[in-house]
Amino acid sequence: MPNKIKNEKQTKIHAPIVEALKKAYDNPTFQFHIPGHTKGLGTLPDFRKLVGKKALLVDTTDEFDNLGTLTPATGPIKEAEELAAKAFGAKRTFFLLNGSTIGNLAIAMGLTKKGQKVIVNRNCHRSILTGLIISGAEPLWIVPEKLTDWGLWGNIDAYDVEELLENNDDVSAVWITNPTYEGVVSDIASISKICKKHNVPLIVDEAHGCLWNFNEKLPTTSLKLGADIVVHSLHKTGGSMSQSSMLHIAEDSLINADDVERALMLLHTTSPSLMLLASLDAARANLQSMRGQKQLSRAIANAKYLRSEIDKMQNIHQLKSDFGYKTDVTKVFIKADGLSGKRLESILEIDFGIEVESASDVGILILCNIGNKHSDFEYLVECLKKIDTHNYQDIYYLENKKHMPMLTPIIKKSLRDAYFSEKEVVPTKEAVGRLSGEVVAECPPGISILLPGELITEDHLPYLTDYDVIEVLK
Ligand SMILES: Cc1ncc(COP(=O)(O)O)c(C=O)c1O
Repeated sequence: MPNKIKNEKQTKIHAPIVEALKKAYDNPTFQFHIPGHTKGLGTLPDFRKLVGKKALLVDTTDEFDNLGTLTPATGPIKEAEELAAKAFGAKRTFFLLNGSTIGNLAIAMGLTKKGQKVIVNRNCHRSILTGLIISGAEPLWIVPEKLTDWGLWGNIDAYDVEELLENNDDVSAVWITNPTYEGVVSDIASISKICKKHNVPLIVDEAHGCLWNFNEKLPTTSLKLGADIVVHSLHKTGGSMSQSSMLHIAEDSLINADDVERALMLLHTTSPSLMLLASLDAARANLQSMRGQKQLSRAIANAKYLRSEIDKMQNIHQLKSDFGYKTDVTKVFIKADGLSGKRLESILEIDFGIEVESASDVGILILCNIGNKHSDFEYLVECLKKIDTHNYQDIYYLENKKHMPMLTPIIKKSLRDAYFSEKEVVPTKEAVGRLSGEVVAECPPGISILLPGELITEDHLPYLTDYDVIEVLK
């Protein structure tokens, strides 16, 4: 019942891991086990002061104090995963440490095999590529539309998915990133219909869309639109602590959850942080609570306010959903006439003390988060107005370095074979004409510039200015 506001006075939102951790905190024991800092005493006092004594007191791992285990999920952790599955509309949910990265690795390891083909959008996160290197499955690339004026990737055309499925009868999965980092949404309903017609599972990397099931003004979550398996980076926008994410299996999924669980057992740490797991439990409970619902409505209202103010500006422009697809209103990508995105980012940071999510050659990305106050946006608007009316033409410059890779790959050797081939290191400028030996994908956004086995061309060099040397195949 995630879309309904619960009356907290009547219904106390249950958060089993948070409650179990509090119980452990309230009933301290003499500790002769890991973590060896033993309630924070075995660490630097300055660090303890910085993070607070309590944070170290609750820094424990599973198995102790009746807190349950992560793999396999037992006790309060299992209960919290079940509550999360209900809240996100899934049959089964796994809590992830090491972010959605480990979710993507487990999906690749558990569901794809050496030599199988997987349809993947080229602008996927590098964790999907790492997963394919591990499993040995071969990507069949979809290159989405390019919004060249914005230096951004657009949506994925369902027709491209259909065409690849019709021309390749041995595809084992379709793996789509939705939304993009900047909030561009693809037509998952149509893609899902096509996948079902071909009896191929649909995996959706929805790392940036974990709030969608909690407010009807946001796009519809892929779990509702027919995806079989979805990852969510709760730590990105959902309110949990850094590195904590979730993986969901859909109600009528084609996928066997045990295959994913087995891979997660191998990949996960054997000392999971209870604090991170509790933060996932807390984030889910918060989003279901009246307080969380209000915060999300406020984030959407703040985004609309910011967007309407930007509309009034002369020299600052925003990416809107008028390119024939939807966008997530809370992700606001803007560009300013006369300024590169990197320059705009540094003006905001140095002159106004504002830090944005990221910057590219063209623009910057602003996240309207559930934790932001309206006054944060009033300040941001005030600063943007100053930038809008200041003539920055005199300091206009574009860096030599390009940031958002938007190249069509020239593939000469399979990903896994190339990754494990013999390599040598050469000066980057001399690498043109050679085959890359490494995954080059800087974060953010973690989209690859080059993959093992791809031809290095002159077009890559502006993206590689920070690389004096690069690994190439011998
Ligand atoms: C689309 C996408 N998928 C997966 C990830 C990996 O997520 P995490 O940082 O939670 O490991 C990212 C990270 O930026 C991402 O942008």
